[in-house]
Amino acid sequence: MAVNKTLTMIKPDAVRDGHIGGILNQITDAGFRISAMKLTQLSLADAKAFYAVHEERPFFGELVEFMTSGPIVAAILEKENAVDDFRTLIGSTNPAEAAPGTIRARFAKSIGENAVHGSDSDENAQIEGDFHFAGREQF
Ligand code: RTP
Ligand code: MG
Repeated sequence: MAVNKTLTMIKPDAVRDGHIGGILNQITDAGFRISAMKLTQLSLADAKAFYAVHEERPFFGELVEFMTSGPIVAAILEKENAVDDFRTLIGSTNPAEAAPGTIRARFAKSIGENAVHGSDSDENAQIEGDFHFAGREQF
């Protein structure tokens, strides 16, 4: 299978709790190559645009407020089958349902504050990677 990519964000809860290193370790130990990375903070407009697909959902306001509440780490990750393998590595959206040893089982607090984001398709991985990184920041 060809190498493809996914976009992750280490969310404000996990950054606040000091888990950047632990999460990046687990990601690289699982065989992902980091091809872009930065510490940044989303503006209100950024978060609304990134999560536009969820704007009709009841949790949208909460989601945008949380995602703008502090710095995040954004990164593009490369691996064979990157989108699906990364979603397996992070576990279910609700950490109470995430498989033992997954990133959300280890580091997330709740369905809202769930430590990491992972793209849900190759198409969205491309869109989300280009949302966070200029071409000259992607290696
Ligand atoms: P993500 O996009 O962050 O990787 O998470 P996901 O695919 O597992 O979940 P998704 O359905 O795309 O939801 C996006 C984010 O919205 C928050 N959420 N809160 N309070 C709630 O019921 C609720 N449901 C979803 C979570 O932060 C979720 O990751
Ligand atoms: Mg999602």
